[in-house]
Amino acid sequence: MLNFSFVNPTQIHFGKDQIAHIAKAIPATAKVLVTYGGGSIKSNGVYDQVVAALKDHAWGEFSGIEPNPSYQTCMKAVELIKQEGYDFILAVGGGSVIDGSKFIAAAAKFAGEPWDILAKGAQVSAALPLGVVLTLPATGSESNSFSVVSNLDTHDKLPFASPLVQPLFAVLDPTVMESLPTRQLTNGVVDAFVHVMEQYLTYPVQGKVQDRFAEGLLQTLIEEGPKLFADDVSYETRANVMWAATMALNGLIGAGVPQDWSTHMLGHEITALYGLDHAQTLAVVLPRMMAAQREAKREKLLQYAQRVLGLDVSNEDVAIEQAIAETESFFHRVQMKTRFADYGVGAEAVEKITAQLERHGMTALGEHQAVTLDVSKAVLSASL
Ligand code: NZQ
Ligand code: ZN
Repeated sequence: MLNFSFVNPTQIHFGKDQIAHIAKAIPATAKVLVTYGGGSIKSNGVYDQVVAALKDHAWGEFSGIEPNPSYQTCMKAVELIKQEGYDFILAVGGGSVIDGSKFIAAAAKFAGEPWDILAKGAQVSAALPLGVVLTLPATGSESNSFSVVSNLDTHDKLPFASPLVQPLFAVLDPTVMESLPTRQLTNGVVDAFVHVMEQYLTYPVQGKVQDRFAEGLLQTLIEEGPKLFADDVSYETRANVMWAATMALNGLIGAGVPQDWSTHMLGHEITALYGLDHAQTLAVVLPRMMAAQREAKREKLLQYAQRVLGLDVSNEDVAIEQAIAETESFFHRVQMKTRFADYGVGAEAVEKITAQLERHGMTALGEHQAVTLDVSKAVLSASL
């Protein structure tokens, strides 16, 4: 096992009616800016619950944080904060609202050009405190320190991380999933699944705890994910998917083990250039990335085949092929498409995405830095 330091300071309030908890979780003297997206929270009752919980707080709101939150929109919120003196942010939404709010929290306290936090890795030395009401289980952003923000002018989609933007608390009420459209349920299951894979499917370091946690999360998503698309979905299915998605990227399973993230890095460029949803990009790339890295990942691929998928691994090469095919077929079972052609993206994309990877210095990705531009190009070509 590799050395690690681990802390996850986000307090989770999980279950039905937990939104009311924010009344106590936010300091009584705070002036709260409630941030949200395009308005789904107004039609599903979440907004009303937040308003009721904040009845004794001073608060205002900022709406319109879009999927793949933009720097341009976030900076409008920063202006509002500076004008009106908000000192606490409550993000109510999915990964985009949360990521945008993390950037807003850091940018509001940043001396200089906040885009440098993303483009130049400029140090975040202060941020407004942040709480979250999660409405879409997918990214894990509700209890981690990562954020991904896009610049609409330059087509850059760039990540940053800082412990200062890690949410202080996150409310996870599985009943808020009832209003999610199929496309977002699909996205959530696939994103969470790929988060686990990028921390699990590398090479063995005898991290037995991490491996078995990861395998449990993958099995939970494989068992419960497809049930989200039935006519009658149970609270327990939603609760299990929601908790799995949070656990998939809260730092626990990745502590002390190698990590990959090459599929995500290719995925961000695809979203920036072609607008596919984040999880859609992952489902296009991952099966081909697994195939391209099959020798480097051989031992873990066999472990995945045997322990997660229950495959017979006596013929190793056959088992690896089956494991990759079953992964893609799982994506299909949760109604996800897995080819560029499904989104009308043609062969010309390969050069464009590769050039963008080069521009962002993504030339040696993966746990062995073995995913060079040539490998990425081959993976993209095979995914057409
Ligand atoms: O904007 P509203 O009206 O709220 O609608 C949203 C949005 O259109 C809708 N939605 C959310 N909750 C809903 C709902 N509709 C009905 N009922 C509900 N309960 O869903 C749409 C998509 O929301 P979005 O937040 O964009 O989705 P997701 O949670 O998948 O977030 C994706 C973003 O997170 C980033 C991605 O790159 C992408 O920008 N990621 C963040 C990570 C992190 N911070 O750790 C890691 C991930 O790998 C990922 O990169
Ligand atoms: Zn992701």
